[in-house]
Amino acid sequence: MAKSTVNAPPTAADVIQFVDRDLDLFEGINDGEEHHLAGGESLPPIEPLTKAWDVAYIRFSVPDLDLYERWVTDFGLKIIYKDDQVIYSRGLQGDGFCHVAHKGPAKFLGFAMMMRDEKDLRVLQENIEGCSTVHKIPGIEGKLCGGSRVSFIDPVCNLLIEAVHGRSIDELPPTRDRVEYNYGSKENYRRPANKLQDTSGNRAADGSNTVHPGPPDVLKIGHVVLSIPVGPHHKMMAFMMETFGLLPSDSAYFESPKSTEGHSVNPGMFDMLQKAGPSPIYPGTFAEGEATYACFFRCDRGEVPTDHHTFFILSLMDKKQAPVGGDINPQLSHVSFEVSNLDDVWRGHMQLKTKAEFKDERYEIAWGVGRHVLGSHIYDYWHDPYGHVHEHMSDGDRMTRSFGQRIHKMSGLGPNGHNQWGPTVRDSGIRNLDGPAGASFYEDFDHDTQQSLVDRNLDNVSELIERIRDTNGR
Ligand SMILES: [Fe+2]
Repeated sequence: MAKSTVNAPPTAADVIQFVDRDLDLFEGINDGEEHHLAGGESLPPIEPLTKAWDVAYIRFSVPDLDLYERWVTDFGLKIIYKDDQVIYSRGLQGDGFCHVAHKGPAKFLGFAMMMRDEKDLRVLQENIEGCSTVHKIPGIEGKLCGGSRVSFIDPVCNLLIEAVHGRSIDELPPTRDRVEYNYGSKENYRRPANKLQDTSGNRAADGSNTVHPGPPDVLKIGHVVLSIPVGPHHKMMAFMMETFGLLPSDSAYFESPKSTEGHSVNPGMFDMLQKAGPSPIYPGTFAEGEATYACFFRCDRGEVPTDHHTFFILSLMDKKQAPVGGDINPQLSHVSFEVSNLDDVWRGHMQLKTKAEFKDERYEIAWGVGRHVLGSHIYDYWHDPYGHVHEHMSDGDRMTRSFGQRIHKMSGLGPNGHNQWGPTVRDSGIRNLDGPAGASFYEDFDHDTQQSLVDRNLDNVSELIERIRDTNGR
């Protein structure tokens, strides 16, 4: 394994603890070594079935659609259809609705990948067990955005995974003018004189001054993150790479049992990963002979730039995320949506914070605002009213196939979570991104709702899943 770059290591005193149940675990990049395997030839030697272009949408079912309508609106999504059974929402850009909430038990149902090549749908139909036939998207979903689709239940996590092609919607204009920033002291890097800054539309020509900035401009869905029990997490990584051609951008591994000592990480994590590994996926895909803990994946668009990660998988060992009497199930860690800029991240933060504080909405900060190291994006994570974490993010890295991949040791997390900047571990409050049981109000839900949220068994939503998967629509 070639090591093309090695960053200057920090001192031992700089190597800091990491905290289980935190996204920080893989932000705590290591003892300073950052192995960048540059070039497309460093990527896994996989001939995938297809190459997904992006993520298209995410599906939930929720008991209270009125409550959830307020959530998606406050989050900054635009509702394009609502009746007493479902809410479809979109961003300003994208190929169609990017967020679906069906009426039903509280549950994360699954997600859809966007395919650029229609024949990829046929390939999935022919190669994935239980896959539907290729069909025009029926019913209201087809009316909203058109397109074709296949769907299946994935063999690792038991999620509804869909693949869509040919959807389209018109782009919407931003609600605010492009924000310009002063940068440094050079005159040509500064905003024009006599032009007042207005990031919130508070200086409208009609004299209205709303004071409250309102929801941010959500552009599109950005990425889906799953937290998966140790062992199956490797299987799901392999499944997503083999099925959708995803490429590893950054992966991280525990390098020794000692790396867990004195920290609040589950002490069994290293041993569990060792038992599950060493990364049985492909030689050279990750750190050879090591136990991969987490990996960020991007879409393979060749030399067309794409987001640093569209999909992300991390290991889960939090018993709280298990159904009563059962084993830990795979969870939605979070779903992320790109907003226009830094101001919109903060606008979203203030919108959700003020609605939680002054309108008693069941919104809860999970982590933010900060800027990550891996991916570089500015982030802000919030629990929705059922505990599923939604992220606003902006200004992430983009890369092409030839970037290759980077591999990190997991030996440290700083008091700042190895953010470029942002809240410290202590300041961050809840910050549990393992799954919906991380929300403080999870304990207030009745038994059935709690079970439904953390159990990947689809029995209580089987009728809903059948309806979604009906190739004729009903
Ligand atoms: Fe994220």
